[in-house]
Amino acid sequence: MDKESNEASSKPADLKISNISIQVVSVPGRLPGRRPLRRPIGKARPNKQSKKRAPFWNVQNKIILFTLFLFILAVTAWTLLWLYISKTESKDAFYFVGMFRITNIEFLPEYRQKESREFLSVARTVQQVVNLVYTTSAFSKFYKQSVVADVSSNNKGGLLVHFWIVFVMPHAKGHIFCEDCVAAILKDSIQTSIINRTSVGSLQGLAVDMDSVVLNAGLRSDYSSTIGSDKGCSQYFYADHLSLRYPLEISATSGQLMCHFKLVAIVGYLIRLSVESIQLEADNCITDSITIYDALLPIRSTVLYRLCEPTKTLMSFVSTNNLMLVTLKSPYIRRLSGIRAYFEVIPEQKCENTVLVKEIPGFEGKISSPYYPSYYPPKCKCTWKFQTPLSTLGIALKFHNYSITKKSAKGCEHGWWEINEHMYCGSYVDHQTIFRVPSPLVHIQLQCSSRLSDKPLLVEYGSYNISQPCPVGSFRCSSGLCIPQTQRCDGVNDCFDESDELFCATIKPACDVPLFRQTGPLVCDGFRDCENGQDEHNCTQSIPCTNRTFKCDNDICFKKQNARCDGIADCPDGSDEDSCSCSRSSSALHRIVGGADSLEGAWPWQVSLHFVGSAYCGASVISREWLLSAAHCFHGNRLSDPTPWTAHLGMYVQGNAKFVSPVRRIVVHEYYNSQTFDYDIALLQLSMAWPETLKQLIQPICIPPAGQKVRSGEKCWVTGWGRRHEADNKGSPVLQQAEVELIDQTLCVSTYGIITSRMLCAGVMSGKRDACKGDSGGPLSCRRKTDGKWILTGIVSWGHGCGRPTFPGVYTRVSNFVPWIHKYVPSLL
Ligand code: ARG
Repeated sequence: MDKESNEASSKPADLKISNISIQVVSVPGRLPGRRPLRRPIGKARPNKQSKKRAPFWNVQNKIILFTLFLFILAVTAWTLLWLYISKTESKDAFYFVGMFRITNIEFLPEYRQKESREFLSVARTVQQVVNLVYTTSAFSKFYKQSVVADVSSNNKGGLLVHFWIVFVMPHAKGHIFCEDCVAAILKDSIQTSIINRTSVGSLQGLAVDMDSVVLNAGLRSDYSSTIGSDKGCSQYFYADHLSLRYPLEISATSGQLMCHFKLVAIVGYLIRLSVESIQLEADNCITDSITIYDALLPIRSTVLYRLCEPTKTLMSFVSTNNLMLVTLKSPYIRRLSGIRAYFEVIPEQKCENTVLVKEIPGFEGKISSPYYPSYYPPKCKCTWKFQTPLSTLGIALKFHNYSITKKSAKGCEHGWWEINEHMYCGSYVDHQTIFRVPSPLVHIQLQCSSRLSDKPLLVEYGSYNISQPCPVGSFRCSSGLCIPQTQRCDGVNDCFDESDELFCATIKPACDVPLFRQTGPLVCDGFRDCENGQDEHNCTQSIPCTNRTFKCDNDICFKKQNARCDGIADCPDGSDEDSCSCSRSSSALHRIVGGADSLEGAWPWQVSLHFVGSAYCGASVISREWLLSAAHCFHGNRLSDPTPWTAHLGMYVQGNAKFVSPVRRIVVHEYYNSQTFDYDIALLQLSMAWPETLKQLIQPICIPPAGQKVRSGEKCWVTGWGRRHEADNKGSPVLQQAEVELIDQTLCVSTYGIITSRMLCAGVMSGKRDACKGDSGGPLSCRRKTDGKWILTGIVSWGHGCGRPTFPGVYTRVSNFVPWIHKYVPSLL
């Protein structure tokens, strides 16, 4: 206020007066009722102002004009900026892909021609309906268009319409866009009647089957290759003949990214695609993949199977309708000329049977999953009824590479089984299991539970004597198998669940007696029971060759397999110790015993796996390119994708690795069971092999010999950056180590109950020393006395809490996975 009055008083008085006079003269009529004074022109009083007129280009006007110019400039710049921002923002398009069945329009053959009047007319109708649905919805502002891509026949009648919907919105708002919301808008627009009790309702006048509506977020690349201009590699194959094999030929040779093959069979039939061999770059489907859909557009929830790896064994997949889409993705489609595949038209199969089982020993027949030996489609239901001739006979089911266990509260991924009203959950394993139902009348129902096609199932059946399931002279394993009594407690896991090797009294030869006498069952049996091998020295006879013995180079079958690569030359020519390459850690001797922090460089095979930049799991270096970790670290959609993972090698303090590599490929064991943690093992291939120059800081750990037995009480080390206490909420910054003892399997089974032969326990019974959250996938390293080499005996898997008394840590028993590891890393041998 004060300032204003000062300014006013500082203006010259004459300027103020002249201002007033100008106002009065130049704005006539502003004062109503007052006529302006008229003066005779000739007698006009000379005006001082007009006489001495100020130039237009004076300072004051200059300032005004300059301000005006600045103002106009700012407004233009702002408008341009706004236009630019809104224009670039609008470039974010969101694609949705889906299908639904229209029940009140019959299919016409003309619909196959996209240019036909018939196709265009039905496509226009559907597009108008979809336009109406979304332009009156909450997303109306962002809705751009819908495009009908296919109108096809199908096994349920009417028309199956496949379409794309495009939305455009600013990038910043993209997060408000949820897949479920977009799908719900479409579904909610279908008006069904409760009275009719049918799934068909009215969608703006179209009769649409509510149960057929599928809508998923789609990819721009898929949109352009199915709708846009670059659909050169998309083809239709119409199969009208049964019992004909239609080869899937790739005609495109250019460097395309994506090819789509749409297979359509005659109504009432299904399509079986058989892949004989494919050459793909194995990198978890990042660059190369073949995806099989149960639809004609790449709708994610209709995926039947995805192939990411090269294969030479025949695999086949069956659709649930008369159509299928096969997409090939590769930077160079030409590379995919290595694909050999064909498809056929097959009839739908019923999956039910009533069997009268005979009173004969053994298995007399087989049942299988639908379309065996093809992968069975995700929607399946089978019923089998068995009856035995006598009430003393039950039904035995021998599952091939499959096992069923009582239903648990958690989900069931590989088939629900209802057997005489009890629920069981199926999982794939690497051996046979026998399930016995002690009833002469058995009613079985199988329901698929996997979202994808699942591996074919084969089950043998037969009757068995309820009071004596295994023949005299045999032992009944927990897996249900019967094995000869003589194979019990022989050190070989014949039951596949180690139940034949549990509760075995250990009779040890008197190893330390000065004058060792060669008597007793364990002496000269081909298996070293004394640490110094004394019980197997000076044996007059060599053990006959069986598949349980190791064949030395001089053709003498001498020692058991697990004596291989144990650092002791058991064969006279030492061939059992050949080609066992892995390094002996040089810094192993500098280890702190009993300390919590490890010494830098003491565990050169220890890896920290980071998921989206944060430490998530551990792993072990087993070669220049490969790491071994736990399958559970990679369970789930996001975790199984290698892209967000990085491997940190040669690291001591979190974040300060000597070498960091992205992960190129994750191979989770095919039998990994997320409920029981069975087969908790995964291989990781690095995108870049670690350099030779870092071999002082990064070294691989040895893989144990196949089937190697461990001694309970043996001291090993567990390492990792996981939590230091169960209650902690973050891991340790410095690599920790703890010495733990291998625990007797029987004891561990009695603690936890659910310990399979793929697991082993280690810890200290008083608790305290253990792995914890964040250590998963990391090594349990045991030092072999004979040669000082470090062996990867276990992989941190699970446990009840951390370091609780009587609850040891559970580890994956690596010696059970040697052939599996060699399958992917043959260079290890
Ligand atoms: N599953 C845990 C992880 O994700 C490891 C648990 C090990 N627990 C134990 N008590 N040993 O890191």
